[in-house]
Amino acid sequence: MPKIFFLPHKIILPKGAVFDSKTGETILHVGLRNNVKIEHACEQSCACSTCHCIIRKGFHSLSGWSEKEDDILDKAWGLESKSRLSCQAIIGNVDVVVEIPLYSVNYTGES
Ligand code: FES
Repeated sequence: MPKIFFLPHKIILPKGAVFDSKTGETILHVGLRNNVKIEHACEQSCACSTCHCIIRKGFHSLSGWSEKEDDILDKAWGLESKSRLSCQAIIGNVDVVVEIPLYSVNYTGES
């Protein structure tokens, strides 16, 4: 069962954390199931960029991404080459290290 390592985030998760994942889960699901308050303004419908995360390890083990995810990611704060929308990235069979960016762009005005 792959583990998801969330790196420390000043506000959401100051000490970082590691959790087991279940088959077919997204990174966001693992976080929310364990009370990591990752933003998800569009309720995981691939329509916002608030769930943006950067994959520091295990990027290629995640599910592929769609053109729509690519378009939405372009709006994310702090975009990097190994960025994903955590609601779209399904965990494979290796451990993943995830950084939650310090900021997110939320056009809905919710947080
Ligand atoms: Fe909106 Fe992931 S929650 S794209």
